[in-house]
Amino acid sequence: MNKSLAIITAFLACFLLCCCQGKEGKRYVIGVSQCSEDIWRDKLNEELKTATFPEDEVSLQFASADDNDTLQIRQIEQFIKEGVDLLVISPNQAHAITPVVNKAMQKGIPVILFDRRTDGAYTAFIGADNEEIGRQMGDFVARQTGHRGSVVEIMGLKGSSPAADRHRGFIQSIGKYPGIKFVSLQGDWTKASGKRAILDLKRRQGSDFCATIDYVFAQNDRMAMGALEAGVLGKRTKLCGVDALPGPEGGMRLVADSVLSASYIYPTRGDLVLKLALNILKHRPYSKENLLQSALVTPDKAPLMRMQADEMNMQQQRIQDLHKKLDLFFVRYHHQKVYLLFTVIILILLVGIFIYVYRMAVYRHRMTEKAITEKLQHYMQLNEQRNRMERLAQLPAAESADNVLDADTKFMNRIFDCIIKNLSDSAFSVELLAAQLGMSRVQLYRKVKTITDSSPVEIIRITRLQQADRLLRQGGMNVSEVSYEVGFSSPSYFSKCYKEHFGHQPTASGTHAE
Ligand code: AHR
Repeated sequence: MNKSLAIITAFLACFLLCCCQGKEGKRYVIGVSQCSEDIWRDKLNEELKTATFPEDEVSLQFASADDNDTLQIRQIEQFIKEGVDLLVISPNQAHAITPVVNKAMQKGIPVILFDRRTDGAYTAFIGADNEEIGRQMGDFVARQTGHRGSVVEIMGLKGSSPAADRHRGFIQSIGKYPGIKFVSLQGDWTKASGKRAILDLKRRQGSDFCATIDYVFAQNDRMAMGALEAGVLGKRTKLCGVDALPGPEGGMRLVADSVLSASYIYPTRGDLVLKLALNILKHRPYSKENLLQSALVTPDKAPLMRMQADEMNMQQQRIQDLHKKLDLFFVRYHHQKVYLLFTVIILILLVGIFIYVYRMAVYRHRMTEKAITEKLQHYMQLNEQRNRMERLAQLPAAESADNVLDADTKFMNRIFDCIIKNLSDSAFSVELLAAQLGMSRVQLYRKVKTITDSSPVEIIRITRLQQADRLLRQGGMNVSEVSYEVGFSSPSYFSKCYKEHFGHQPTASGTHAE
């Protein structure tokens, strides 16, 4: 019983272990701190998420600071407290965010700065070369104006590194041309700030000035659209921006539709950001400075670039859809595993219960048989004593013994005499016994039942087995011979009955098996 229980428990434990092994826990948690929320950052976040699909060991946690330094510092502090494995940060204003980035570095958390920089330490930077973007846009504007005219720049958020870098690059280019009159305005990357900046300019310089502007270079497409929305620019005024995002709201379409005369792709490349993060986390070689390739988008190139960007977007969407389906599949698979687990547990329990009930039945049968045997043995002993007396020719003694025996014992003596006389006859049955005793089968049954609480069939069987045991103990006969001697026609059936009755094989009693 103990053995079966141990096997069942071991099997159950193995099964549970296999079934409960779900997806392994994530090894790396990456905190992504975005300075604000806009379509450029949404695209980057989506790319980052998509890049984690093949990486089971990574999980991302996003926070957006809504252009607020204090909030971003708090969010980074929280990431540090939670013990993220790596931080990907796009700092709002470089100077304000530097101390908390330094703190993360001191705590041993690697920091990837992307798109924007701080003034302090960092593990790696990934993003476009904003000074180069400014330079290229400056060259473009200078070309378009014939190196003369009135040019207005709307800068991004003061203190954010791309604003300073793009401005530096832009004036490097247009500064070469004295024929260009240049005004720089302050924005903060939002569309509203672009509008505000131009309306401020109108207030300060008048509407005529605004109407005669040749070019507005806004440091991103959103601010360019804000400037246009102000409604004070002249018909001749051309606009250009940066970002050139795909999609219906993006700068790529605005250039294709000639709303903007140019934009510059500001690459997001979430895939490369995640790759860099994994290289750092897994201690693989990586570059500290990772500049992303970019390109100027003009109306002649925009349709083709837009087509390509849309195709890429579609692919990404397909990957995300597939991933969702896969997730759904995993959920179903997990449920099925749980159902299977319960089914197997129930089956195992049923098998266990069955084994237990069967063993209990066998045990009870053996106990009953033991009790009957004990009762029969009493009569058998009396019968043997009497027979021994007869054999020793002490007939009178036997008769006088007979006289003192009660009727039940006398009756049982007659039964045993009959059985032993026919012991080796396998055809000897209850019917024959009853006939030899001169009574009906039913009468015999009733009487035997009253005296021994057993049946004639049982008495025949137990008598045969008891005799067999005696013969086996005497030795000189093998199991087959003994089985025939006591009226079993099949030695294997004899062995089975013997084992059931005595609890061990007949060979264990002293003779050898065939
Ligand atoms: O940091 C750079 C600017 O941030 C992008 O050009 C802009 O669109 C984004 O929000």
